[in-house]
Amino acid sequence: MDRIEQMLAFARNCAKEAGKIQLSYFRGNHLHIETKFNMHDVVTVADKESERYIIGEIKRTYPEHAILGEESGMHAGDSEYCWVIDPLDGTSNYIHDMAPYSVSIALRDKEELLLGVVYEVCRNECFYAWKGGKAYLDGKEIRVTDVAVLDKAFVALGFPYDSDHYRPVAQKLVDRLYGYAGGTRLLGSAAAELCYVACGRFDARIEGYLGPWDVAAGGLILMQAGGRLSDFSGGDTWPSAKQVVASNGVIHDTILHLL
Ligand code: IPD
Ligand code: CA
Ligand code: CA
Repeated sequence: MDRIEQMLAFARNCAKEAGKIQLSYFRGNHLHIETKFNMHDVVTVADKESERYIIGEIKRTYPEHAILGEESGMHAGDSEYCWVIDPLDGTSNYIHDMAPYSVSIALRDKEELLLGVVYEVCRNECFYAWKGGKAYLDGKEIRVTDVAVLDKAFVALGFPYDSDHYRPVAQKLVDRLYGYAGGTRLLGSAAAELCYVACGRFDARIEGYLGPWDVAAGGLILMQAGGRLSDFSGGDTWPSAKQVVASNGVIHDTILHLL
């Protein structure tokens, strides 16, 4: 096993264990729901415990690596590697016992993303990819669709917590998609939905004002499955997650025109 394969196996295992933590809290324990920066942006004890578990495993196995976790911020390291973690993507779904919600773990160096794992807890599905490789769902290679026209496209939207800034974009998108796209959905887990574009369940997904942990793993998985990501102008700032258009590639420019 080479180093990337080892780190991928490690990340897959961490993601699945974190999923078990989430289910154990969900079945019977108090979730201790707290509000974060925006009014509807919430965190539970399961988010925090999952992140604590993943960070503990990384520090034990790769003590020199840096870590960026959604709940605990930046943990400096002594290496060019940095793990980027969303321990529970889709917390509002989780609180309401609604699928999907997921664990997202990516590894990057100074230049680029090296590997990504998204484990969707409700369907027990693990998506993963690495730089230079293909993308997989539980051992099976996945690919984007070839849907090229809007009226056949199944499009996922995300409405971020920062509603003050995003409202005009959300309104424009609903106006331009409803009745024109093949279907429009809001599922509530950005990481899982990027993987759903990667495996052909969706043809595109659009959101802004996300965090880098929302899109790192799912973005790499989508690219390795043949998809395309950009900001709203077609540029490459999407890893900062302020604007993220994700698609099968062939419908990308049509989606950009909507914005
Ligand atoms: C959220 C989910 C949701 C998206 C929000 C994210 P969280 O992440 O990905 O789909 O619309 O913008 O913040 O808070 O559940 O980790
Ligand atoms: Ca998230
Ligand atoms: Ca989260």
